[in-house]
Amino acid sequence: MKPQRPTARPALARRDFIKHSLLAAGSMAIPPGLLSACGNAPADRTFTVDPNRPWWLQGNFSSVHDEIDAFDLPVRGRIPSELTGLYVRNGSNPQHDNSPHWFLGDGMVHGVRLDGGRARWYRNRYVRTPFYEHGVSFAEAIGRGLPPSKHNTTSNVSVIWQGGKILSSGEVGGAYVIDPNDLSTVGPTDFGGAVDNSFTAHAKVDPDTGYLHFFGYWFFPPHITYYVADETGRVIRKEPIETSKPSMMHSFAITDREAVFWECPVLFDLGSAVTNPTDAFRWTPEYGARIGILPFGEPGASIRWVEIDPCFVFHETNAFRDGDEVVVDVGRLPSVFDGTDIGGGPGRERVMRWRINTSGPELRFREELVTTNQWDLPTHDRRYTGRRYRYGWYSEFRDHPDSVDLGGVGMIDYTSGATRYWDPGLTRHGGEPFFVPGGSGEGEGWLMLFVYDHGTDQSVLAILDALRPDRGPIAEIDLPRRVPFGFHGCWVPS
Ligand SMILES: [Fe+2]
Repeated sequence: MKPQRPTARPALARRDFIKHSLLAAGSMAIPPGLLSACGNAPADRTFTVDPNRPWWLQGNFSSVHDEIDAFDLPVRGRIPSELTGLYVRNGSNPQHDNSPHWFLGDGMVHGVRLDGGRARWYRNRYVRTPFYEHGVSFAEAIGRGLPPSKHNTTSNVSVIWQGGKILSSGEVGGAYVIDPNDLSTVGPTDFGGAVDNSFTAHAKVDPDTGYLHFFGYWFFPPHITYYVADETGRVIRKEPIETSKPSMMHSFAITDREAVFWECPVLFDLGSAVTNPTDAFRWTPEYGARIGILPFGEPGASIRWVEIDPCFVFHETNAFRDGDEVVVDVGRLPSVFDGTDIGGGPGRERVMRWRINTSGPELRFREELVTTNQWDLPTHDRRYTGRRYRYGWYSEFRDHPDSVDLGGVGMIDYTSGATRYWDPGLTRHGGEPFFVPGGSGEGEGWLMLFVYDHGTDQSVLAILDALRPDRGPIAEIDLPRRVPFGFHGCWVPS
């Protein structure tokens, strides 16, 4: 299938560039439109936004400033007793309400500890980065002598549980270790000095080896460095990957034998970064876009690339090897960061299945439409990371004229082509659903996500049966405060 070209560009619609600036996720071919009958919820559930102020400083995008501890939380429904551990999620929570972009506030983690069917506690804590400790926003940082570095980072995008540690990532900059007992910041880690600058927000754990695969992108060569760490956190491979320009690379994928990168045309401009950090990344379609395949164990210079039409992909659901082809399921946007406001561009997101044939001297690329539903922030059963898999789960992005509106939970069965969908209700808004394994089969387990009700200004932690999310939560845990919309979470098993 020939890749679709970006649509001709109409006048920018505000909701398009807002939405697109924010999506910061079987071998059968799924016919176009097969899944799109289960469309997004009607756009009749909008909350009010003051157009004279940044939307990311309003409503449930705005910060909560105090750090609290609450114990023995009220529960409606039943928490499975096997769900014993900690759910924790990161997000942008600017300390001084002055963030120039939703992506650029101080990191704050929110966690709920479950134990034997009870919700023992809720806590929230800022990640103690230099930006936070000095009270400096990302936009002010360079001028205040805190240029981005492996320690100077917002640390606000994701949390990853690996090697007995919660690692917090801000994508640009290195990782911070978070204590699962109280969510306090232990401190930065560079894996014993091995990591030079950044630690991606989307590291992968190979389910067979237990190795952590990750990368960092940076503003100067090598623009990408790919790392593999063993289960103890010791870096056992470090491969620089040269590209022509520094670009934003939010995620990548692995199969059981290779790493997959996609270089999209959002380029870093040093001059803009100094004068206006929010303008540091620019949509530059003339740079082109490409997918790179690097077999495990080979030097970075041996990566092979295939050109694709310009697009942007924040997240993949998963990837796997299918004979001569590498399959990657992605959320593909026509463009991002090309508007006059905070970025974005025209057109709608689609879930696509990329296929890269590696058998010949040149890689060959084709793609298939999975669904036109605007579903992103994907999760999958991590026991199947890099392996042929069946299920993907997503957060719905509803249309909203002035803001981002996170909606319900979608599920794609990539084997049957079926979808399921949970609508949280007229006034309620979800986020990334994180999969927590339960039984032995793929998809047997639960989805966990914070759900905010703009009617009551309260949040709950919702738990859904992952194979039947359309039935709605099996338990909802009342939280002592609203939890601002955020990005990525993880599960820390006990
Ligand atoms: Fe992400």
